[in-house]
Amino acid sequence: MNKQHEIDEQSLRQAQRLFESGDIRQIEAGTTKGLCDIHRYLFEGLYDFAGKIRTMNIAKGGFRFANAMYLEAILPVIEKMPERTFEEIIAKYVEMNVAHPFMEGNGRATRIWLDLMLRRKLGKVVDWQRVDKDLYLQAMERSPINDLELRVLLQPALTDRVDDREVIFKGIEQSYYYEGYTKE
Ligand SMILES: Nc1ncnc2c1ncn2[C@@H]1O[C@H](COP(=O)(O)OP(=O)(O)O)[C@@H](O)[C@H]1O
Ligand SMILES: [Mg+2]
Repeated sequence: MNKQHEIDEQSLRQAQRLFESGDIRQIEAGTTKGLCDIHRYLFEGLYDFAGKIRTMNIAKGGFRFANAMYLEAILPVIEKMPERTFEEIIAKYVEMNVAHPFMEGNGRATRIWLDLMLRRKLGKVVDWQRVDKDLYLQAMERSPINDLELRVLLQPALTDRVDDREVIFKGIEQSYYYEGYTKE
């Protein structure tokens, strides 16, 4: 077992505890603080930047996320974006992904942040078990240009079973699977 696997395994336990303990109820929906709190919870003791906004620039698959110099200016703008409808919530999620405020762990933290908005505003969450990994990552790559693909993928996976343990815990595992983690 390698180091990365151990970190991801421990982080998965911390993510499960966020829900198991009920601490998720204390997290703000739709704000930068809420996202930082989620990130800290998932990565505390694992990364020294847990819950901290990055100061370095990062890119993935040829896409360069927001310049670290601008994060301080754009994060307050993103958190003010409306979140009344599914379309608005996805648009806000996409902008937060383009910001990519952390050095690592943006995908896992921001999906929980997305579900929190969907839950509080629409009484729904994404059933991630029903969202294919490759199609999801493809839709995310496409999303800075057009978020239609992402909406078409996630809308049919919405469920009102927001307190269902299976939906919550299998969903978290699926989110970790998107980022390369699988149980051994
Ligand atoms: N080329 C891309 N363009 C836009 N978003 C991307 C791209 N590649 C990956 N993503 C998004 O970034 C997430 C991974 O970010 P990362 O910080 O590595 O999070 P984690 O550590 O949780 O894997 C993916 O889940 C996806 O949502
Ligand atoms: Mg990653």
